[in-house]
Parts: sequence; C-alpha cells; structure tokens
Amino acid sequence: MQLTDYPEWQALVDHTQVATDNLVTLFENDSNRAQDMNLQAAGLFVDYSKNRITAETLTLLQDLARARNIEAATTAMFAGEKINTTENRAVLHTALRYQGSEPIVVDEQDVLPEVRDVLRRMGEFSDNIRSGSWTGYTGKPIKNIINIGIGGSDLGPVMAYEALKHYSDRSISVKFVSNIDGTHFTEAVRELDAAETLFIVASKTFTTDETMTNASSARAWLLAALRDESAVAKHFVAVSTNNEKVSEFGIDTANMFGFWDWVGGRYSLCSAIGLSVMVAIGRDNFQAMLEGFYAMDEHFRTAPIEENLPVTLALISLWNLNFLGAQSEAILPYDQYLNRFAAYFQQGNMESNGKSVTKAGEPVSYQTGPVIWGEPGTNGQHAFYQLLHQGTLLVPCDFIGFAKPLNELGQHHSKLTANLLAQTKALAFGKTADTVRSEGVAEDLVAHKTFVGNHPSNTIIAKQLTPQTLGALTALYEHKIFVQGVIWDINSFDQWGVELGKVLATDIFKELTNPGTTQQDQSTNLLLSKLRELK
Ligand code: F6P
Repeated sequence: MQLTDYPEWQALVDHTQVATDNLVTLFENDSNRAQDMNLQAAGLFVDYSKNRITAETLTLLQDLARARNIEAATTAMFAGEKINTTENRAVLHTALRYQGSEPIVVDEQDVLPEVRDVLRRMGEFSDNIRSGSWTGYTGKPIKNIINIGIGGSDLGPVMAYEALKHYSDRSISVKFVSNIDGTHFTEAVRELDAAETLFIVASKTFTTDETMTNASSARAWLLAALRDESAVAKHFVAVSTNNEKVSEFGIDTANMFGFWDWVGGRYSLCSAIGLSVMVAIGRDNFQAMLEGFYAMDEHFRTAPIEENLPVTLALISLWNLNFLGAQSEAILPYDQYLNRFAAYFQQGNMESNGKSVTKAGEPVSYQTGPVIWGEPGTNGQHAFYQLLHQGTLLVPCDFIGFAKPLNELGQHHSKLTANLLAQTKALAFGKTADTVRSEGVAEDLVAHKTFVGNHPSNTIIAKQLTPQTLGALTALYEHKIFVQGVIWDINSFDQWGVELGKVLATDIFKELTNPGTTQQDQSTNLLLSKLRELK
C-alpha cells in the first residue's frame, strides 16, 4: 500500500484542512504551549512550539509513525539487519560509537572488537603525531595534516574539525582538500614544507576520481620535494575499506585504518574517517564526541515515540514538507564554530532522502527529502533572512544556540543569543499592518513593513559546544533522516543518483583530452567547441 493510502496519512490530509490557525492564535489560545512543546535528551533542549501544529497534529503524526513501524525499523537498524536493500548491507554507524558491552553481529560476526581495535590504532597514531614522535622522512615532526577526501570522507571531518577547533592543538594545522579543481590542492600546500606534511587519504572505496587525482598530485608534490619513494610511507596514511586499492596506490597497509561496508560514507565521521579530527583534538576529546553520539543513539533507540527527539523533529519536518508545502529546510547555527554544520547535513539529508522510488522500486506520490541549506547566524540575517521573513516560500528553520560561549568577549555572546531569539520570534509572530501603522509609518509603506509571521522553526539549545554536544547534535540529525526515510518507504542508505554524472564525466574527459573520440549531444558539443576556442 502506498503511503498516501494509509488512513493515518488521510487523517493528516483532513487535519490540514482544519488546522488553519496561525502561530499568534495558537500561542494566544494556550498559555502552556511552550511548556508542553519541548523535549530534552542527551544535553539538548528543543523548543518546537513555534511550529504550525497542535497536540492533535502531533498525535496524528505519531500514529503515522506507528503505522509505518518506526520502532521495528529502528530495532532492525541497531541490530545490524541489512536494511540497505539495494546494496545488501547493514547500516551500523551506531556500532562505531556504541559504549555498551553487548555484541553487535553482522554476518555471524561481532563487529565491536574490530571497531575498537581501529579506534585504539587511531589513538596511537594521533598521540604519535601530536607528541612529535611520528617524524617525516627527514626526521622533522609533522606540523601539517591534509585530509584528502570528498563527500562523506570530507564533509564530516571538516564539519567536526571546525566545530571542535576550540579543543584542537594549534601547533598542528589541519586542512581539507576535496575538489578536483587543482586550485584546491595548490592553495592548500602553497606555503607548506613537504617534510612536515602528512596526507590522510580518506576514501571508503579508494576509487573516487577526485580523491585519487588529488592523492596522486599530493604524491608528486611530496616526491618533487623529498626525492625518494620511501618518503611516501612516512607522509601518507590511508583510511578505507579497500586494502587492495590502498596497496596499489603505494600506501603500506600497515599505515591504513580500515572500516566496513556497513558504514555509509555520509555516516562515517565516527569511523577512521574521523582520523584528522582525532589528530586535531586528541583521543580523549574524540572519545567524548563518541559518547555524545551514543547518548543520543540510546535516547533514540529507547524513548517512546511521544518523547523521542529525533522522531519528533522528523515528524514535524514531515508535516511541514508533505502537508504544508515546504520544500527546503534551513539549519541556522548561532555559533561560528558550526559554520560547516548545514553543509554537512546537506549531504547527510539530500544524499539519503533525495529519492523518488520506494524500496520496492515504485514511484512515490509524495515529496521526499527537502533541500537543506544554511549559514551560521548572524551572517545569514544580512543575506537571506529577508526571504525567510517576507518571501513567498515556506522555509522551516532550525535555530541552534548555546548558553555559554567558548570565547568570552565583551557582550558578543549576549548579542548573538539575542539575535537568535529575536529571529525565531519575528518569524513566528511577525508584525501586523496595524502595528506598523500605529508607529506612524506612511500608508504607502505599510505593506512593505508588515511581517506576516507564521513561519515555523525549532530552537535547539545546549549548555556549551563541547565534543559531547556535537556528537549528540549530529546523531539527532542522522536519526531524523532515518525516521523520515522509513515513513517515506525509501532507502536512505544508497546513492545511485550520483553515478550517471561520474560515468558521463569519464566520457567527456576523453573528448576533452582527445577530441573526436566520443559521441556527445549537440549542446555538449557546442560547449566543448566554445571551451576549445576560448582556451
Ligand atoms: O557522492 C557519492 C559518494 O559515494 C558519497 O556517498 C561518498 O561520501 C563520497 O562519494 C566519497 O566516497 P569515497 O569515500 O568512497 O571516496
């Protein structure tokens, strides 16, 4: 049965037609609304009262979640069942941060001993780099780490490195090279001494063209400076699931940190893919981040639907997307350290839930994953918030803020927080034409200065941005994606949609480097000839 045929879905359609109250009225009619519409878990407090929902909306959404067997699906994921059906793989990123002692079995084997062994090796490696006992080919300690990876092998480490920079060892610079554009690599190494630089080549498959091309250029750059093949062993380590390809590239598998096919790329931050982060912040802080992830995992796995934070945020988001017509969601962290958080979940969410067929391969008749975007506050306020407040699109927003700053500086933090709260308030309650008029605004400007309000948002608050908090926050968004995927009956863990472009790029590359060897369409041919002419 298609999702839209479920009576629980139909009940929500009917409810949409009656639920026309706007946020001003919803708050006026219920003085306990804020008190009733919040949840806390794993150190995060979430106020979801500024959404166009009532208690009944939530109940109907929870009924839908139950009808789609969300609890059984969650149990199946945590138990290592092969829920990634198109690739016949388990989905077990939760095993990477599991702090308990029960075995987690995939293909009749407990995965935890290997998970913990890799973590131990990562710890030793990062201790050695940080203490200077790992030296480069000329005997100098490593001062620069460059992670070469893309997608999940880049965005997670970048996001977490930026988020936890406060906790990092500033005597080591950590950079990330992802783009196949040679500028990215060239600029990253511009002022670096090869003798003090170590590359972490991070790729689950070790076949991704961007990463392999950048890694080859890194090898050439290193050898141009150090002039001895044996230097590669001291300046390259690999993070991958593919031993064979790592060896082929020339990296000793003794310097390889493995992970497993049951870790999806965009869910791999807690695996060895996080190695650059561990080097930057040290093994204890990395462990604290894993504990934060685990705390949210446990909440998600055990809390009833009504008190479950990832489920609640998933359901409210689904209401906005499927019933109120929103097509995108903004993630707006009021913390500069979270400047890559939205970009990380752009991949996390859009590669997971940007699907248009069900698990059985049937076309869906409803909207699935939204466009995810965002920038840290207050920068966004001077860029795109105009559209949020007065544009024609409905854009639900998540605001993220902290009670205590990591960098106490005059009144900056109080001003930052005041802005966060002011934006959620302005979006929800707006400003009526009458209020504008009462301020003496000329009649021809009243419409321009009116804010209709009624824009939904969640506000997520924690004490301080710590490794634990980041872990909990990240797991919250991961599980939200999972819940929505289950309800939409799509496979959130494959990404076939990225394949066609890769194949076509290979063919067009041939044409660019060897004209006349391939057949292209008219438009591509015209563009190719124009590019040749301009070169
Ligand atoms: O974009 C497609 C993708 O497969 C992502 O899912 C993945 O995170 C990225 O490429 C990088 O893949 P790999 O780690 O295998 O290099």
